[in-house]
Amino acid sequence: MLPGNLPDTPPPDQTAAWRALEAHAARLRPLHLRSLFDADPDRVQAFTLEAEGILLDWSKNRIDRAAAEALFALAREMDFAGWRERLFAGEPVNLTEGRAALHMALRNRSGRPMRVQGEDVMPRVQAELERMRRFAHSVHSGGWKGHTGRPITDVVHIGIGGSELGPRLVVRALEPWQRPVPRVQFVSNMDDADLQSALRGLDPARTLFIVASKTFTTAETLTNAGRARRWLVDGLGDAAAVRRHFVAISADARRVAEFGIDEENRFTLWDWVGGRYSLWSAIGLPIVLSLGMGVFEALLEGAHAMDEHFRTAEPEANLPLVLALLGVWYGNFLDADSHAVLPYDALLEWLPAWLQQLDMESCGKGVDRAGRPVGYATGQVIWGRPGTDGQHSFYQYLHQSRRIVPCDFLAAIEPRPGQEFPHRSLLASFLAQPEALMNGKGREAVLAELDTEGMSAEEIEWQVAHRLLPGNRPSNSLLYRRLDAATLGRLLAMYEHKAFAQGVLWAINPFDQWSVEEGKRLSRVIDRELAEGRVGEGHDPSTRALLERCLQG
Ligand code: F6P
Repeated sequence: MLPGNLPDTPPPDQTAAWRALEAHAARLRPLHLRSLFDADPDRVQAFTLEAEGILLDWSKNRIDRAAAEALFALAREMDFAGWRERLFAGEPVNLTEGRAALHMALRNRSGRPMRVQGEDVMPRVQAELERMRRFAHSVHSGGWKGHTGRPITDVVHIGIGGSELGPRLVVRALEPWQRPVPRVQFVSNMDDADLQSALRGLDPARTLFIVASKTFTTAETLTNAGRARRWLVDGLGDAAAVRRHFVAISADARRVAEFGIDEENRFTLWDWVGGRYSLWSAIGLPIVLSLGMGVFEALLEGAHAMDEHFRTAEPEANLPLVLALLGVWYGNFLDADSHAVLPYDALLEWLPAWLQQLDMESCGKGVDRAGRPVGYATGQVIWGRPGTDGQHSFYQYLHQSRRIVPCDFLAAIEPRPGQEFPHRSLLASFLAQPEALMNGKGREAVLAELDTEGMSAEEIEWQVAHRLLPGNRPSNSLLYRRLDAATLGRLLAMYEHKAFAQGVLWAINPFDQWSVEEGKRLSRVIDRELAEGRVGEGHDPSTRALLERCLQG
């Protein structure tokens, strides 16, 4: 048994399903995707799922029904249903911190209780949502006055990682629903340039700062918050101004008070909400200020709908599980170590960055739940950009390099009002790129387009060789009607549950992130040496030389 009396599972690579998958991979590796379609006339129907308004066509993957069966067998052997039940029951599935991971409670619309250590947390969740609603109303109505009696016109949200990426993604993705006032900006980087860019042109008398940090110990956030406070006090000439121009989102009341923010201006979240799973909590306050409570609630409802799908759908019809199984299939059997996320929607530009933290901080682990070093890869490098920008940047690599990069293509069927023509072109690319990745381009097609005038036979063959596209590149296509709050909530919850399901399949804890602490500790040591103008003991020769060079100026 594991701590918290949670049952252990065998490492996945010791299951019968894993061995079967190795055989399927050996069988399928030499086959071209085109042959899989030829061999299975009903393939598209067999590999298309639709749930909660999201259609997933996973037929352009290097897999057939027998291999898919083995993947679902792996989910059964790894007790997917049992871990899913523990997740929703509020058990301490975050094993190393002995915590639940109950971000679903933040968006629970079922009316059912959701319990952590026996306590129904829903009253706390509802109370915090009500505080967010009231606060947003006071800002929107002008009831909230700054230190000089002026209403707020600008909000600067200071946070990093899970305390910033989620709200930044949502505010940008739902830009058509943004209120004209307050304008909301996000600051995350330790580089002061990030903060200065946000402050440029702002009036201290009408600017509100949100300091978002679950721990209230994150150096970047506290540094930026301190400099923002100095900007405000310098601008208004009174330290008392902080009270009306700073609110905090944090679990740590003491540290928030030490910064000078009154308790009634602290919004809270709980230890059963992981940072990268927290946009649905008070961390979403900038979403409410920018888009309104109605849009935020629609986002929560969408996510809840996906929670219910994930909680109840059979494995073969379970969107997040299928995406997770494909992550295992490519990462552990078809030698792909990265996964591209390609939303054909400029407003989803922050989706890849949010997914990077969600997936890589959840699944990039070296030991399994029991603390055994894993003998298999976990996690994948998540990257991407909106289409069609990526087509003018890295699609060459996707089409012709020897590395296979599984891709998620996403698009809305409906154009935004008045954007019919550009949307048609966007959809055309959304459909054409996976087709080209899968089918490639053969010799006849290249010759048909090549101007061979005056070329020798050798030169023709040489030109053809450079223009051939091998194809056989896998992708998922995800379609939804339009990008509104409910759909966005479903999409983001779907990816959250994908990360969790991958954790089950790899028998790891997807809810801790111990490695990030060491980088923070070392930077604090070197920060002191830079401040004191000295090179401390214990550095490797490279770091020592670089430190000395920095000190020379
Ligand atoms: O990257 C490490 C991390 O702890 C993330 O998990 C978290 O989202 C981020 O730093 C910010 O943490 P906090 O909200 O405590 O400032």
